[in-house]
This record gives sequence, C-alpha cells and structure tokens, in this order.
Amino acid sequence: MPLRIAPSVLNADLGRIREQVQLAEAGGADWIHIDVMDGHFVPSLSFGAPVIRALRSITSLPLDVHLMVEHPEQYIAEYADLGARVFTFHPEATRHVQRQLTAIRERGMLAGVALNPATPLAAVEEVVTDLDLVLVMSVNPGFGGQAFLRTTIDKVDRVRRLLDTKGSRAALEVDGGITVDTIHNAYAAGADTFVAGSAVFGKDDPAQAVRDLRLACAVSI
Ligand code: DX5
Ligand code: ZN
Repeated sequence: MPLRIAPSVLNADLGRIREQVQLAEAGGADWIHIDVMDGHFVPSLSFGAPVIRALRSITSLPLDVHLMVEHPEQYIAEYADLGARVFTFHPEATRHVQRQLTAIRERGMLAGVALNPATPLAAVEEVVTDLDLVLVMSVNPGFGGQAFLRTTIDKVDRVRRLLDTKGSRAALEVDGGITVDTIHNAYAAGADTFVAGSAVFGKDDPAQAVRDLRLACAVSI
C-alpha cells in the first residue's frame, strides 16, 4: 500500500520556514500540508494565498491544501494558479459539493473532501467517483497539537471499505494527532496518507521525525 507523509506547517516556525520545510523534505516528506483557516468555519485564523505562494517557491513537493473555511469554492481558481496540488474542503462549508469537486478537477488539482469527527461517511458516498482524496479528521479541526480520537480507526476502516467497494483509487488521509504512537493503527486500518504537524515541526530534527513516522507505520509500537 502506498504511504505518504504530509507534514503540516501550521505550527512550524514561520521565521525559519524554508529551513524547516527543507528538513522535512530531506527526511522523505511526500507532500506539504497547508491548513487554511478563516476564523468562521473554525475558531482560528491561520494563513492563505501569501503563504501558499511562499511555500511554492521553497519546495517542489506537492502542496496539500486543507481549507477549513466557509465557501471554499471562492479559492479554487486562485489556489490552482498558485500551484496547489490537492484542494480539500469540508462539505458543511458549501452547498454544492459535487460541483466544487468537478471545478477543482477541471483546474487540474486533486479534489478532496474532509470529514469532521461527527460527519458521517454519507457525506462522501454519493460523490466517490468525483473525488481523489478523503481526509478523515482525527481531531476537531482548528488547532494543532490535539490528541488523536480513537474512534477514527473504525471510521478509516469504513472509508477504506467504501472506496474499495466502489473501485475508487482515492487517497485516504488522516489528519490530527498523528504521532509515532498513533500512526500504525491508522495505517493498518487502511489510511495511506498521514498529516503530521507537531510530530514533525515540534521536534528538534524534522527530517528524522518524518523517517520515524514512516518506520512506525510498519511496526506497532
Ligand atoms: C487541524 C489541522 C491539522 C493540524 C495537525 O485543524 O487540520 O492539519 O495541523 O496538527 P497535529 O499533527 O499537531 O495534530
Ligand atoms: Zn489539516
């Protein structure tokens, strides 16, 4: 099964962002995860286009943009032009999910839907053929550094079965509280892409932290 590590820069040291991202890349990071927050869909404000642009100039890794914002459709064209590879939004934040997925793909990006801990799989069932990624939130979105919700494992298992049943090759990403202790069970349940913020940029050696996460997938700790 493929295995991608997507370090989240949400809580990285923005004053040293070039060095931090390059260290993650040296450790084998596959994507760089960018959490866009608007202070409405989630309580926090984070960053948007200027930081995506800066990251685009720092790394050639695919940019995995996770929008925790109302009306994410407003940003599809802009983020595509900035070079985003993955555009993931929350279905509660827009009225016409299928239309947005199509618009994202038409702009040449991979289309992702994020499921909050309380959002049922039904939110993606009717659009499985229209999406390239399902993001299962393993914390309530809004902040880095929260504890992994254990109910996520069962949900990942059910999303895996849904994707397999429908013949979908969409990526299955888990986001929130991923550490060397939690990643293995999520991987074993069928996730293939792992967002990690504190577990990478909260460490003294982000390169080694990425390697440790990859190793921890293979062995249960
Ligand atoms: C939370 C964000 C996550 C966050 C993960 O709302 O979507 O991507 O950066 O941070 P950690 O890995 O510290 O839980
Ligand atoms: Zn995220």
